[in-house]
Amino acid sequence: NTYVCIMAGGSGERFWPMSRRRTPKHLLKLFSERTLLEETVRRFEGVVPRANIFVLTNEAQLEPTRAALPMLAPDQIIAEPEKRDTAPAAALATGLVRARAKDGVMALLPADHLIKNTARLAEQLGAALARAAGTDALLTFAIKPSYPSPGFGYLEMGEELDRTPTLGVVRRAVRFVEKPDLPTAERYVAGGNHAWNAGMFIWRVSAFLDEAERHAPALAKFVREFPAGDPSAYLQARFGALPKTSVDYAVMEKAARVETILAEYDWDDVGMWTSLPPHLQQDAAGNAVKGAVLAENATRNIAISNGRVVALVGVKDLVVVETPDAVLVCHRDAVQDIKKLMPMLPKEL
Ligand code: GDD
Ligand code: MG
Repeated sequence: NTYVCIMAGGSGERFWPMSRRRTPKHLLKLFSERTLLEETVRRFEGVVPRANIFVLTNEAQLEPTRAALPMLAPDQIIAEPEKRDTAPAAALATGLVRARAKDGVMALLPADHLIKNTARLAEQLGAALARAAGTDALLTFAIKPSYPSPGFGYLEMGEELDRTPTLGVVRRAVRFVEKPDLPTAERYVAGGNHAWNAGMFIWRVSAFLDEAERHAPALAKFVREFPAGDPSAYLQARFGALPKTSVDYAVMEKAARVETILAEYDWDDVGMWTSLPPHLQQDAAGNAVKGAVLAENATRNIAISNGRVVALVGVKDLVVVETPDAVLVCHRDAVQDIKKLMPMLPKEL
């Protein structure tokens, strides 16, 4: 009775023009011949039976998501009626599991991370599911922070609770702070006692229900009343009334019992164009390129061609991304602002 639920309903605006409303980051083939989502599903096939893997997306992305995952049955891919962030998705996932195993154990995972040491991840996740079966705590994975990013959740590390070769080191998370401001993130990283939250959660259905009951009762009620069988009608009727917020804010920040396992695998959430260079081919002048790109007297650019030749001459620190119907030219320092384009884009883009 262990399950894996993959959240694949993000918008991925920061990877425009390769990502679009219907095809966010996890549906792109950025680092291999497979989409990040397919890589994610394959990663967990050895951890739980394939029939116990669910993928949560939304109606707009349902068709491309099914097409990307031919190994899953259609009813393993569930469409949320609208995009409401990850707290409703967490409740939906927990409801799906509860309808199959009253007190099942589950991992709620992101769809769009890059992890190379998948063997160690699978091993630690398997051990985490086993631990979750016997604790009321919500389990997370802790990543050693490499810079003070305000874009992550932070776990304040408490005492060591357990340590085994397969599971690794488990510590109490004294506090969970989602996306602190930059000065706070700087303090956390300098202090050395905080880790990044990997965005992967492991819990027993009743452990989640307990915390949700206290801190987000609408989510708990939604889980308790979740039907067996096809949930479409239930989702149509109830999903839109759930709070539009993330599971980090709605539950994790407030939960009394949180534990964290020190991740022993590599981890990168590749959140924006400037996260790509370490994973792409790089030339001597620091240009990170993919596809047909030529560079002459060009330095530290990130350039991706999806067909036509892209030529960089005498430019530095640019992000250039070519697609059949749109081209992005952006300064490296401005990639955070790409999402501001969204309201300006014609509908088909
Ligand atoms: N089904 C569904 N529905 N999935 C969603 C939705 C939704 O409405 N919104 C986002 N997702 C998916 C995304 O596609 C991604 O796979 C995952 O849920 C996490 O959402 P993000 O929007 O990428 O979260 P984040 O990166 O800002 O923050 C989370 O991840 C960080 C690590 O990457 C938090 O858990 C942070 O605490 C954490 O540090
Ligand atoms: Mg993310």
